[in-house]
Amino acid sequence: MPKTIKRIALTSLILTAAVVAGSFAAPKTGTANEAIAVEEARDPAVERARREVRMLDDIYKTAIVLVTEHYVHDDTDLPAGRAFKALFEAVGKKGWHEVRLVDATGNPYSDQNLPKAGFEKDAIKQLLEGKSVVDKVVVEGDKKFLLAATAIPVVMEKCIMCHENYRDVAKGKAIGALSYKVPIQD
Ligand code: HEC
Repeated sequence: MPKTIKRIALTSLILTAAVVAGSFAAPKTGTANEAIAVEEARDPAVERARREVRMLDDIYKTAIVLVTEHYVHDDTDLPAGRAFKALFEAVGKKGWHEVRLVDATGNPYSDQNLPKAGFEKDAIKQLLEGKSVVDKVVVEGDKKFLLAATAIPVVMEKCIMCHENYRDVAKGKAIGALSYKVPIQD
């Protein structure tokens, strides 16, 4: 069989198989989204934004733990969470990225820290189910952003000094998250 005919035959075989498989597969919706997700996973610009989130997350969380360990001695001291909210606001104003300290327990100190409807709420749900990070690419006008949420578990006994509601939380389970919006640069 000549090569082109062979290729056509093979293509139609694959197409038929795909159609047959498709008609048996339950919901067809989401296929387009999955295709986009696969494409994004391979996009080096998205990968760079993911790396940026991993780096920021490591630095912020390490610093929050160090501050809590060395500077917070009783419940009247300035909590690292509060200090870092001020830092996050300053960083946001300078236009580097946006980052929020978000609650996952439903019982935060401040309602400002409740997850916002949409990505944050969906992400918190997945973090509570055991994921350590959830992310999503969004397009606003001609700009692309990576939204990402990373889990915060109860990392040390001292957290409970102020957050009594963390006492009975299973070890390793998320009680909060850092929620990021990082520009994707081509
Ligand atoms: C000295 C008291 C204190 C300690 C210790 C403390 N926090 Fe907080 N935390 C606060 C306060 C107060 C807020 C609210 C800050 C605001 O919104 O201005 C807060 C906010 C938070 C939030 C956002 C949700 C909410 O409750 O509003 C998370 C998540 C959080 N803290 C996690 C932790 C973790 C994890 C630790 C241990 C590393 C910890 N905190 C230690 C006092 C504390």
